[in-house]
Amino acid sequence: MGASNLALVGSGWHPPLFREEARALLGSIEVLHPRMVSSSQSGAELGRISGASLVDEVIVSTSRLWIDNGGITASEIAMHVDEWAQSFLLEGSFAVRARNLGQGVCDLSRREIEAEIGARISGESRPVDLEDPDFEIAVVLAGQDDSSGYWDDTQQNNLILWGLRDGKFAGTYNGTSPTDRPFFKPVTLDPRLARLMVSLSFSRDPPSMIVDPFCGTGGIAIEASLLGLEVLASDLDSRMVEGTKSNLDWAMGSGSYKIERCPADSIHETWGEVDGCSFVFDPPYGRNAWTSEDGLDVFLGALSSAGKMCPGGTICTMLPSSPDALDGPLSEEIQVMGMDWAMMKERIRETGWSVSMASPVRVHKSLSRLVVLCHPAH
Ligand SMILES: C[S@@+](CC[C@H](N)C(=O)[O-])C[C@H]1O[C@@H](n2cnc3c(N)ncnc32)[C@H](O)[C@@H]1O
Repeated sequence: MGASNLALVGSGWHPPLFREEARALLGSIEVLHPRMVSSSQSGAELGRISGASLVDEVIVSTSRLWIDNGGITASEIAMHVDEWAQSFLLEGSFAVRARNLGQGVCDLSRREIEAEIGARISGESRPVDLEDPDFEIAVVLAGQDDSSGYWDDTQQNNLILWGLRDGKFAGTYNGTSPTDRPFFKPVTLDPRLARLMVSLSFSRDPPSMIVDPFCGTGGIAIEASLLGLEVLASDLDSRMVEGTKSNLDWAMGSGSYKIERCPADSIHETWGEVDGCSFVFDPPYGRNAWTSEDGLDVFLGALSSAGKMCPGGTICTMLPSSPDALDGPLSEEIQVMGMDWAMMKERIRETGWSVSMASPVRVHKSLSRLVVLCHPAH
């Protein structure tokens, strides 16, 4: 049995991006399963995770068992959890909640596990209370899982992990519907994706500021402000500038914001130099998306200007790509904005940035988008 402190269970939507988000927020992580990672816990982590986009559940004071071909019974699991409870479960009422990831483990029944653990641990000072318990023991039965539709080569060994559920964590992020905002346009980024891009731009600690040079309706700016981050947003179109302003006022995030009309290749002139910021944006691209270079110069101009504004910063952006990006490990040959990915990385490098992560997201049958993270090339 191995012990570790904190585990995150990821949303099933995009396990590879869940793990990238966990890495950005926590620094080093141990990948236990495509949808579960663990990390040591010292205190500040829970605050950073509370704003995550793709985390389903947070479990603290964890312990775990790898299950080989020999299998395991519900009463054996209850014995291990009982041993753990001696050190980690305080006096008070409790409930046990078991869940499967993927196919679960060895056809074990969640109800049987909950009942066995409950019976074994409960006593006068620790009564079971399924309605309003002081503590929830979360048990995760993690088995084979390939339901997301995203290519993933993470090893999948059967694992049972348990610990105390962090009841303050709100669950997978959905945000409010963009159509409820005062200013809406079809270009508005899905709040979950916008929130994810902001998280990905963390380097364990949050950036000093989030800069969006293509703010549109403010999808990214809203998520940053809701996380309490300072925002500098701009757009070439004055209607977008006004719209972002009214959306940010409406969202009432705690992060302060400034919004200006400005072309993306001169944000360094508009905002001046800023230390430790992240540029998070969704650049414009032509109707032909991944097959044409429309928008390429605007994108590269924004990267150059970002480098002048904050040479040590981080970039998180999204680029249109051919749908075959979803078929397997990311190949150098997939098409991104009218050129192959290898060439695009070279063009990015010429602006002073280097791609450190890229992961495709499905948009529709004939389009995917690459979520791309860049750090300074030097
Ligand atoms: C894909 S939209 C961004 C959508 C935004 N993320 C949202 O959630 O609404 C791209 C934006 O880039 C702006 N844009 C186009 N060319 C620009 C340029 N050269 N400089 C700055 N903004 C530009 C457009 O007006 C548009 O609002």
